Amino acid sequence: MYQLFNAVLILVSFCIPGCTKKSDPVNIYESKAYQSITKKGLVVGESIWATSCFRCHRYGHNGAVPYEDKDYWDKSAEKGLDALHKSVWEGYKGEHGVMPAKGFCNLCDEDEIKKSVIYTFHLARKAQVAKQKKEQSNL
Ligand code: HEC
Repeated sequence: MYQLFNAVLILVSFCIPGCTKKSDPVNIYESKAYQSITKKGLVVGESIWATSCFRCHRYGHNGAVPYEDKDYWDKSAEKGLDALHKSVWEGYKGEHGVMPAKGFCNLCDEDEIKKSVIYTFHLARKAQVAKQKKEQSNL
């Protein structure tokens, strides 16, 4: 009986630090939200991107990083959708510059911002693949 009690105690003391630890964020490219976004969702994201995010992220104005920059966006993808959404929703200060809250889409709600974030990464992947192909064909 005493042994059993000890075993439970050991299990519990292992579990307390282990079980309360927050799980690591899922890379946005591997997330369900990214992989299962509907066409309609992408269109919403795209329309926000084209009216707001585009201004800084297309060519890298105001300290923003253009979407072709694979290293930057791959690293950022690791933060996961929730953190990235928070960065855009609340505004974000990075190494290169400052993004205003909601990325200038003042009328956007949280769901729309989320879709625009997912769209940004879709676009980034597409542009990076195209760039890679072009570089390979120039070899
Ligand atoms: C006024 C310019 C500007 C606009 C508009 C803008 N951004 Fe940004 N964005 C930035 C800057 C500056 C950064 C930070 C760069 C750095 O890391 O130093 C950034 C970073 C990000 C990041 C990475 C955040 C992180 O935590 O790593 C995401 C994602 C992003 N922007 C998405 C968006 C989306 C989606 C929109 C449109 C809704 C948008 N941005 C509009 C300037 C802008």
